[in-house]
Amino acid sequence: MKRIAPSILSADLAHLADEVREVIQAGADWIHVDVMDGHFVPNITVGPIVVKALKKVVNVPLDVHLMIERADDYLDAFIEAGADILTVQIEACTHLHRTVNAIKAKGIKAGVALNPATPLEGLDFILPDLDLVMIMTVNPGFGGQEFIPAMLPKIERLKGIITKQKLKVEIEVDGGIKVANIGEVARRGGDIFVAGSGIFGTPNRAETIKKMRQEIGA
Ligand code: DX5
Ligand code: ZN
Repeated sequence: MKRIAPSILSADLAHLADEVREVIQAGADWIHVDVMDGHFVPNITVGPIVVKALKKVVNVPLDVHLMIERADDYLDAFIEAGADILTVQIEACTHLHRTVNAIKAKGIKAGVALNPATPLEGLDFILPDLDLVMIMTVNPGFGGQEFIPAMLPKIERLKGIITKQKLKVEIEVDGGIKVANIGEVARRGGDIFVAGSGIFGTPNRAETIKKMRQEIGA
């Protein structure tokens, strides 16, 4: 199933409840929350208290993307706050198998994100345990960056591996997604599309989401 997940990173955070309500009404499937710690990435954003606040005003799954070191120490806080999907960065997890299973043991979906330069091979022994793999199509840290086209064959290759192994793992694509490229990303194998500036940065968010849906046939 193809899904669109607007990232609140590009929303007007002073009016967060109104911003998320607007995109949900316009057809957003998930709300994407980018958590940055100033260590793993050169930016600091929000933590569990914002997830908890969002949970009260949102009736779609909260897709929480942890761009943080020592993710294990914070999993419970994000799950208790209401995360429905927790994705950790492969580069930040020494004991990835333990981390993924700790997330799944709490009954929510677990994802693993790969930075642009990180090869797919690190997934070899964990892929069947995952609900989703997130392919980063920008270097994480900031919204509004350019989509890296070299990630298209990476998405395609991952899709091939998942299909060959008959797995149910979904591919989420995060970074630089716009109306103009979402169709191509879907054709290469993307299932879930994160868009921050590509949605919140446009004057008519509803129209943008509608166009994105048409592009991906959702
Ligand atoms: C990148 C974040 C993305 C970001 C996407 O560090 O993980 O989720 O918000 O923003 P856009 O869509 O503007 O590239
Ligand atoms: Zn993200």
